Amino acid sequence: MSNIIPFSQELRERTRASHSESEGADFMGDLMTGKGTHDDYIALVAQHYFIYEAIESAAERMRIDPVARPFISDKLTRLPAIEEDLRFLIGENWREQITPLPTTAAYVARIDEVGATWAGGFVAHHYTRYLGDLSGGQIIRTIMQRQFGFDTNGVGFYLFGDIAKPREFKDTYREQLDAVPWDDEERTRVIDEVLVAYRFNTDLFRDLAAAKAQSVA
Ligand code: HEM
Repeated sequence: MSNIIPFSQELRERTRASHSESEGADFMGDLMTGKGTHDDYIALVAQHYFIYEAIESAAERMRIDPVARPFISDKLTRLPAIEEDLRFLIGENWREQITPLPTTAAYVARIDEVGATWAGGFVAHHYTRYLGDLSGGQIIRTIMQRQFGFDTNGVGFYLFGDIAKPREFKDTYREQLDAVPWDDEERTRVIDEVLVAYRFNTDLFRDLAAAKAQSVA
């Protein structure tokens, strides 16, 4: 066996620096330290709408793919919760009030592309968002609840009502990653696509900061 360390571990190690960059982006850092506003939070939720619409449409197409199928679970589905959050945060006409930022549009185009053609690429994007939501997302939720006085309305996106134990769910997910019969070349391609996904997330925080600067100028 050429791979001594499990794939999930290799993936985490090779993407650690990119995770730190995403996590440390100013827009996110400000939200986490009380410098972000309620509107900043809404702007982030609005971008999530477009991203999860893309991932979850791709998931519908990928359900028949033998590699992607084990990762796809209704327990993860976020779009209805995001829609409820936006209705609560913006109002009934929320859909007319939101547009994708440039990075979101590019991110969505990439998800659409791999979601139609490449299971490994789809899994890379699926992993980056959902495992993040089940990890740091839970910390983000607690801080947003404290900061903006949310109970469950407004942070439904971060509440996985069907996943009682996120840690166990993530462990199973990692076991599934380790079980896919990808060769070394494909594993490298998948890790590279996770790096692409992190890049989109970091760039999105930059777009959000730029849009904010423009709106207050
Ligand atoms: C304030 C922002 C963030 C915080 C505080 C944070 C925090 C964390 C923490 C503590 C973990 C480890 C949990 C564990 O070991 O089970 C984690 C894992 C993860 N985060 Fe984040 N994170 C943040 C932002 C992000 C962003 C923007 C993304 C990408 C969309 C992301 C994607 C991930 C992924 C994919 C994992 C799982 C890594 C693995 O175990 O393979 N995170 N995060």
